[in-house]
Amino acid sequence: MLAWNDHERTRLRPLPTTCVSMPTFEEKLSFFKQQIVERIARAIDSETPVSLYEPIKYTMQGGGKRLRPVLLLLTVEALGGDVQAAMPAAVAVELLHNFTLVHDDIMDNDATRRGRATVHEKWDTSVALLAGDGLVALAYQTLLSTQSPHTLRISRLFTTALIDLCKGQALDREFETRDDVSMDEYLDMISKKTARLLSLCAQMGAILANGTEDQVQALKVYGESLGMAFQIQDDLLDITADPEKLGKDFGSDIRQKKKTFLLVHALRQASPKQKQQLMDYLDREAIDDAEVIRIRDLFEDIGTLSEAKAAVQRYIKIAEDSLTPIEKVHASTDSLKDLLRLVQQRQA
Ligand code: IPE
Ligand code: IPE
Ligand code: MG
Ligand code: MG
Ligand code: MG
Repeated sequence: MLAWNDHERTRLRPLPTTCVSMPTFEEKLSFFKQQIVERIARAIDSETPVSLYEPIKYTMQGGGKRLRPVLLLLTVEALGGDVQAAMPAAVAVELLHNFTLVHDDIMDNDATRRGRATVHEKWDTSVALLAGDGLVALAYQTLLSTQSPHTLRISRLFTTALIDLCKGQALDREFETRDDVSMDEYLDMISKKTARLLSLCAQMGAILANGTEDQVQALKVYGESLGMAFQIQDDLLDITADPEKLGKDFGSDIRQKKKTFLLVHALRQASPKQKQQLMDYLDREAIDDAEVIRIRDLFEDIGTLSEAKAAVQRYIKIAEDSLTPIEKVHASTDSLKDLLRLVQQRQA
């Protein structure tokens, strides 16, 4: 079974450049992750002021799947581009992603991420806000060091994706106080807050690899669909994953009254009695773990959990199908398919 090999603290075996046999997907993943981690360390080369750099390093050294830079690099590789030349862009998307997490944890009132205290919890909100701001600046600094004729183009895309991400986060927050959010509104919100960054990675990778416009477009769809699947899966994991493995607060979305795939679906499909039960929970000031489990049972009864799993599969299929035109001219989409499997199986 494929795994994220999430323990960056253990030394990863470098991929020999002269290896005769093709590296496996897992070896490739480890190699890319190792390179990314090393380059992240180089991108953050200051120590002071301590209240800025300590939380930045804490965040960037806290592990994480490194999905976005890996996606970017696999896209470059699939089109036969120069993976090393794309490293600054890969590091930039990871820095940007971590900025979103630090601020997202403030917005979502979460105390745990990657199995450790969130930045605003360990320090305070001011420190977390500034660490996030610093990460955005470092992301741009790194991105702009890309040596490519496409640097300006990818920087523009990076900027519009960031604006979309902020829009998505705003919608996510606005939806907390609404109980009439439609599935279309939900899908639009996650396409901005999550899928946009993943489509950006695939798009940037394709552009840096000098892909044709058709290839860039196909890979954009791949990243977008992967991102939609990823967020619906994330909504599911909030109440179905082992919190120890997930490393995040159990049932956070329920407590924050987030309009996740689960709640949006359940509110629409529930019987009048079930809907009343859900509304009663939504009216509460505080929801404890036992109540989260009762809501999960209600989701199960309504058919919401199986529908969410089916939706994840549908987006994975769209992502897979989007690779077909690339396969006609290029044979190396296997790793991009392996990445889909990995996301499907994720438990953290
Ligand atoms: C978390 O992203 C934010 C979402 C879009 C759901 P990841 O699950 O990729 O976070 P890390 O970087 O691996 O911790
Ligand atoms: C996060 O969505 C999206 C962004 C960080 C932009 P979530 O709020 O669901 O992510 P987690 O569950 O906290 O990682
Ligand atoms: Mg969150
Ligand atoms: Mg959030
Ligand atoms: Mg979540």
